[in-house]
Amino acid sequence: MKDIKGKTAYVSGAASGIGFGITTALVKAGVNVAMVDIRKDALEEARARLHNLGGQTEAFVSDVSDAQVLKETADEIERRFGPLHILCNNAGVAMLGTPLDEITQADWNWVIDVNIKGAINGVSTFVPRMKAHGQGGHIVNTASIAGLQVNQNFRTGAYSLTKYAVVALSEGLEQELAGHNIGVSVLCPAAVDTGIHLSARSRPDRLGGAFERKADHFMGYLIKDGLKPEQVGARVVKAIQEDEFYILTHSSPREWVEKRFTRIMEAFDRAEAFEKELGIEPWKLRTTAEK
Ligand SMILES: NC(=O)c1ccc[n+]([C@@H]2O[C@H](COP(=O)([O-])OP(=O)(O)OC[C@H]3O[C@@H](n4cnc5c(N)ncnc54)[C@H](O)[C@@H]3O)[C@@H](O)[C@H]2O)c1
Repeated sequence: MKDIKGKTAYVSGAASGIGFGITTALVKAGVNVAMVDIRKDALEEARARLHNLGGQTEAFVSDVSDAQVLKETADEIERRFGPLHILCNNAGVAMLGTPLDEITQADWNWVIDVNIKGAINGVSTFVPRMKAHGQGGHIVNTASIAGLQVNQNFRTGAYSLTKYAVVALSEGLEQELAGHNIGVSVLCPAAVDTGIHLSARSRPDRLGGAFERKADHFMGYLIKDGLKPEQVGARVVKAIQEDEFYILTHSSPREWVEKRFTRIMEAFDRAEAFEKELGIEPWKLRTTAEK
């Protein structure tokens, strides 16, 4: 989507970190931004920090994990700005460091509801409206490098589970929206210096309210030497303009992803040997015409 000046964007998780970085870069590019976050005070402070950039921004307090609340927010955004062109499903929370069998039901509900359903709710709420106005647009879903592999060093299983889902959602959207002039990107960063280690402060009341999740604290050390949110934001805007699908911001995790894909390819070698052992032809996908 080359021409983004004057268009309208939704950015969730805009009060902090990557969401604020994306908002800043969009505003600099002349985009009107609906800044959405669950934390009212932080959102208003963040919006105030943008005042000298001259763009049009509005703050909308909302909970992306609640489909009904998000629908009301979407109606309000439309009343304020008109049709939406750029959808950034970015809000997310951390869930690293705890063995999978020790994660509480409350934590599972929270991480799944915000990271997976938050993105799904953004899609169900806004994509039909984007298709209907027919002016084209772009969707950016924030996954993570944890959406491309599970990292042995940081117990990312639960977080990765949610981010794999965001990658799959994005790959599906890209295929389905090709004819609608709506581009799709999935953002997969490694460390970015944000407030993600303080995620528990934004747990919705409906899911138990703000708390302190000690297992998240080590993430603060992990990310403090990472990229700055404004660097990631600028990279995202370039990807929107160049219509890039996978947005990777760090090169060093290449070996983690390679390791995972090598294991998968080796499993295909074993599948080939298995078919030979059975004396059968490799399974062939039937096309609709052959049905
Ligand atoms: N920081 C990193 O190193 C990193 C790396 C890869 C991916 N990510 C992803 O980037 C995205 C942004 O995270 P960040 O690192 O900027 O963290 P952050 O905590 O600084 O920002 C996230 C924002 O989302 C908001 N939020 C949380 N739950 C919400 C809800 N239910 N409804 C609306 N808003 C909600 C928070 O209040 C916060 O302002 C997340 O999806 C995260 O998983 C972060």
